[in-house]
Amino acid sequence: MSKKRVGEYESRIQELLGQMTLEEKVGQLRQCGPSLVGAFDVSFEELLDMMFDGRISEEEFGRLMSTAERDFREEDLRAGRIGSYNGVGDAETANRLQRIAVEETRLGIPLLFGYDVVHGFRTVTPIPLAESCAWEPELWERTARMAAEEASAAGVHMTFAPMVDVAKDARWGRISEGAGEDTLLNAAYGAAKVRGFQGGDLAWEDSLVACVKHFAAYGAVEAGRDYNRVDMSPLRLWEDYLPSYQACVAAGAMAVMPAFNDINGVPCSVNRDLLTDILRGQWGFEGMTVSDANAIAECVDHGIAQDRAEAAALAIHAGMDMDMTSDVYAEELVDLVSSGKVDAADLDRAVADVLRVKFACGLFDDPYKTSPEREAEMILRPEYRELAREAAVKSIVLLKNEDGILPLAGDTKVALAGDLAFSCDEMMGPWAVGGIGSDCVSLEEGLKFAGISLVDTEDCDVIIAAVGETKDMSGEAASRADISIPEEQICMLEDLLETGKPVIAVVFGGRPLAMPWVAEHVPAVVEAWFPGVEAGNALADILFGEVNPSAKLTATFPYATGQCPLYYAHTNTGRPGGKGKFTSKYLDTPLGPLYPFGYGLSYTTFAYSDPKAVTRKKDVTFSVTVTNTGSCEGDEIVQCYFRQHTGARVRPVKQLAAFEKIRLSPGEERRVGFTIPYEQMSYYDSAGNIMPPYGTFTFFAGGSSVDCVEDTVEVML
Ligand code: BGC
Repeated sequence: MSKKRVGEYESRIQELLGQMTLEEKVGQLRQCGPSLVGAFDVSFEELLDMMFDGRISEEEFGRLMSTAERDFREEDLRAGRIGSYNGVGDAETANRLQRIAVEETRLGIPLLFGYDVVHGFRTVTPIPLAESCAWEPELWERTARMAAEEASAAGVHMTFAPMVDVAKDARWGRISEGAGEDTLLNAAYGAAKVRGFQGGDLAWEDSLVACVKHFAAYGAVEAGRDYNRVDMSPLRLWEDYLPSYQACVAAGAMAVMPAFNDINGVPCSVNRDLLTDILRGQWGFEGMTVSDANAIAECVDHGIAQDRAEAAALAIHAGMDMDMTSDVYAEELVDLVSSGKVDAADLDRAVADVLRVKFACGLFDDPYKTSPEREAEMILRPEYRELAREAAVKSIVLLKNEDGILPLAGDTKVALAGDLAFSCDEMMGPWAVGGIGSDCVSLEEGLKFAGISLVDTEDCDVIIAAVGETKDMSGEAASRADISIPEEQICMLEDLLETGKPVIAVVFGGRPLAMPWVAEHVPAVVEAWFPGVEAGNALADILFGEVNPSAKLTATFPYATGQCPLYYAHTNTGRPGGKGKFTSKYLDTPLGPLYPFGYGLSYTTFAYSDPKAVTRKKDVTFSVTVTNTGSCEGDEIVQCYFRQHTGARVRPVKQLAAFEKIRLSPGEERRVGFTIPYEQMSYYDSAGNIMPPYGTFTFFAGGSSVDCVEDTVEVML
């Protein structure tokens, strides 16, 4: 948002602050989730637990949920004690609650509705880890725009997305929610999402505030265990983890969600360095911060606050504006400010941040912004489904294709195996809060729609076996200590291979899986992730060659869980792994990846030649010729990496510098050029100073992080 716009609101904000009571100010910082009341006596969280530990079935859970009534604490709302809701996703409820806020509260301050629109709203698109494999910022932006159009029509004003937590550890279930292991890619992904969600102006009826999360370094939780500690050097934090959030702020994101984890001993929810000095001071952020769910209260369990009152005091002083669902602010802040334990200026700052976002959204001019009619018109439109299908085909990664077994001819008789092939619901993935399973096309349905004859194993030409994870096996609170393909699926594949029929494995899941057996024995392997509503149609497009696959991995696939975290941009040890006893390696598993970062096959082939790196002033331009050497048209994601051979600190063996997706016809060649600015090659020394890049640099270009051509250049000071 421009400085001018922000300036315009400031006087109105100050005017409002002047009229508000202490209680009303605290009310603006309270975000409520609807609590459920109904035919059971337990909280929503307990009910979820009961389902997960098997005390009630999924069906029973669904039945209880659908009969439960949602309690919006309307008395509190009327009294000006609620400023925002999380989880209201329909226009009728949103407008009803908004009417209370605007017409029945003393000052008529409108509500702000937040919702997890992580990968599509009702039109569920591929999970972010999948969509990142398209390496296409323009697509990322378009799918975010679509999600904003749909969700805003349902009364949502703010999405808790994009999630730009760089994740190098596939044990962490939330690797599914972001753009994988690379910093540059997460930054490009996040910025595109912010542009798409927020549109040209937040006041548009179809814009959503982008709440960037989880600030910061949540993807680096120790041992890949969710919510765990993060302990890392400031250098690494600044180089690998902070740039993706910074890119989102630079793209104009008006909200930021601090992460659950601590960094070097200080939980992000109460981390003033992060929330005030870096975010606002250094990056110029002018929006609001929203805690993660219940996170302020959890500072007591963290052991950083002795009670809820101290948690509230620490959080507001650190720069946390809104309390998502812990009610700690609502219960404690009035007393804390009255007794002088919390500075009234901290409270006013937080309230001003929230009001600024409400002004920017145009809510003071038009608090409703939608209607049930608009909602009905905007949900799951045919063109949305088309875009979801495009995103899905661009996300599906072809990992193996022995003897060109794929694409299949249209008259191939197919036998399907594995439960996931028949599921609609599973196709949504773990974070599709606004999605409905029955909207999704299963693999089986997709093949049928494409006119493919499905037969049993005896009569088939090929077997397509769906394996991998169900949606509950990744996402939040779904870390795994063993990320290999389940043993029973290997047994199934063994039985299928024994029939002598060719087998194609379609792997679903929210993370890279350790599957060396599959990679070795199954002739064709397709990584489908969770493709969303158009899953089956998109898979049919890829398997039958309607679309040539082009996606490339954004997270490394290990051979074994014990290799985690495994990532391409590692540094060298003094004893680089490989041959010889005393080198950095494992005795029982290969050192490198099963499938590397940037990898993915096509039905055609590409060759790289004539790499040329030259310095231009202090920047480097690097170009390479890419040729389609196969027999069909295809898209290639040309990746450019660099390595600084010697630095003041050890440097990564390879670091992504730029990428471009190009389309080439058979035999066609193209010179692809990149300019890598000097600043992008700089890094931090151990005192936190920015070091200018100089010395010998190698630039690489290729269709994956391992398969590259290269040229070396001297960069001068
Ligand atoms: C998650 C967030 C999410 C929030 C609100 C939390 O448990 O960590 O990513 O936005 O819930 O639903």
